Amino acid sequence: MNQERVHTASPDFIAQANIKPDDYRRMYRESIENPDAFWTNVAKRLDWYRFPTDIRDVSYRPDDLHVRWYQDGRINASVNCLDRHLAARGDKTAIIWEGDDPSKSERISYRDLHARVCRLANALRNLGVKKGDFVVIYLPMIPEAAVAMLACARIGAPHCVVFGGFSPDSLGTRIADCSPKVIITADEGLRGGRPVALKANVDKALQRPDTHTVETVVVVRHTGNPVNMQSPRDRWYDTLVEGQPAVCEPEVMDAEDPLFILHTSGSTGKPKGVLHTTGGYLVHTSFTHEVIFDLKEDDVYWCTADVGWVTGHSYIVYGPLANGATTVIFEGVPNYPDFSRFWQVVDKHQVTIFYTAPTAIRALMREGEAPVAKTSRASLRLLGSVGEPINPEAWEWYHRVVGEGRCPIVDTWWQTENGGILISAIPGAIPQKPGSATLPFFGVEPAIVDNEGKVLEGVAEGNLVILSSWPGQFRTVYGDPKRYKDYFTTYPGTYFSGDGCRRDADGYYWITGRVDDVINVSGHRMGTAEVESALVAHPRVAEAAVVGFPHDIKGQGIYAYVTLNAGEQPSEELRRELVAWVRKEIGPIATPDHLQWAAAMPKTRSGKIMRRILRKIAENAPEQLGDTTTLADPSVVQTLVNERLVR
Ligand code: PRX
Repeated sequence: MNQERVHTASPDFIAQANIKPDDYRRMYRESIENPDAFWTNVAKRLDWYRFPTDIRDVSYRPDDLHVRWYQDGRINASVNCLDRHLAARGDKTAIIWEGDDPSKSERISYRDLHARVCRLANALRNLGVKKGDFVVIYLPMIPEAAVAMLACARIGAPHCVVFGGFSPDSLGTRIADCSPKVIITADEGLRGGRPVALKANVDKALQRPDTHTVETVVVVRHTGNPVNMQSPRDRWYDTLVEGQPAVCEPEVMDAEDPLFILHTSGSTGKPKGVLHTTGGYLVHTSFTHEVIFDLKEDDVYWCTADVGWVTGHSYIVYGPLANGATTVIFEGVPNYPDFSRFWQVVDKHQVTIFYTAPTAIRALMREGEAPVAKTSRASLRLLGSVGEPINPEAWEWYHRVVGEGRCPIVDTWWQTENGGILISAIPGAIPQKPGSATLPFFGVEPAIVDNEGKVLEGVAEGNLVILSSWPGQFRTVYGDPKRYKDYFTTYPGTYFSGDGCRRDADGYYWITGRVDDVINVSGHRMGTAEVESALVAHPRVAEAAVVGFPHDIKGQGIYAYVTLNAGEQPSEELRRELVAWVRKEIGPIATPDHLQWAAAMPKTRSGKIMRRILRKIAENAPEQLGDTTTLADPSVVQTLVNERLVR
């Protein structure tokens, strides 16, 4: 190992760690050599109505594709996150809520959380929600978000959480995809002091004909500002749960019954509803949460993600609560009221484990060390990173400035489809190299294949695939089995992640980013096709092509090339209008950073846009354009190069 760039946890950390250096290789070997025995043992961490004996039933063959774990087991996720903790941990804090407004926070015990979940679950049943019915959740980062997810889990109603930053149209598409009877939302969200019009967005989404299945909109009173309430459809959350019993008989679920769907972006088409089931998902998220975050009974654990993303599902709600941990739900943003906010919250609640995204670290790093240094952070003992590759400079800053050299960093690689972490350091057991997600978690068999699908051994670079299954793996793309199959047919017999990856001489994995038309903007995953279809929906746009480009803070930025309809003239005003249009169509996270006019696109003779060329222009690397002779009209390229917006 190249010693300069390796960080090993301190002897003190290792002495108290759940998994010791010698344990990792032994446990990994066991998990691969005898997966059924290994995962039977792990499943004992949960409470089952019927303990499973059929551990794994998996085939990646396209003609017989199926992934099933613990299929004869019976279980309820909310019981595992709540009821089973009541005897020993009833008064322990389950959720610490920290508001966007620093003067607002709340601690909710396991007993109280259980009661709140039961009241809402009863209310949902009264509204006619039955096992198997979808519920859409469109909430800010408030305790009701976790309460709503667990209430759905209690009655066997799969939830579909939609990120509160999405537009009415993005919300409408997701509603149309799963036909819920009920939506749970709030009057408004609050971020950085600014209100987010959630209820008004729901009203707009429900004007679409394809969202007619919604019978009831449950509205949490959050900011208290007036909103339009339409009777009898719209019901206030507080009056609905008032008077409901604080106990609720849980639905006994099969391990393979759906727990939720969550939409994520692919390289083409509309977002995919990734479906996760109950038993395997909960085993995987709770186990990884305990092992990778070295969880102890008195930890205060904070993951800064939003519950609208998979990280929030697995590592704010299900993993931590299944483990009886104290989990922080933070409504705000890192720079409000100022750039010390994260660390003030750490001090206020004595956070011990902190898990965030590289984009936040880079944004804070730009502000210098002073906003960090004026806080104590003495409570912190472990740091985590997720969502995108972390550049070594940001890693070192996180380690040296935030963690004062004392806290190991776990760089956790995984995806919405994976349910939980697949590649990560285990802090006391695996030395860390800045920028590498390090080694596979137990049971996970990554491989690197070339473009022909040949598995490369040893030091290698190529496409990251996973050879076998893990319990938290997704089971289908809701309503679209063909798109599910696509994951297993690119490199037959494997799950293809869509990521590029390098493996070094120590067997460490270095994720290099997406190799498909998916981009990762501030840790938010987006299909370039989605941004393109928003642009071409504008009446003056003829054609659009969108690519990612390297961005100092966001990791990747959005670079759009736009061809206008014949007769239309480009102008600054129209440029601004189109940028605003995309914001409105998808949401602020999809705002293009650059929009370049393209009189024509570089196309092959068969009419396909050559994105490789557009990517190189956006990267300001025109010297790397490569072969352009296959283009229908090579002169198009020179114009685009001359007019490029990044130099
Ligand atoms: O490109 C990888 C990147 O995020 C993608 C998955 O995005 P999403 O499904 O939204 O889930 C994000 C949170 C789990 C991956 O294909 N990614 C995620 N974590 C890392 C990462 N890239 C590098 N290092 C990571 N730790």
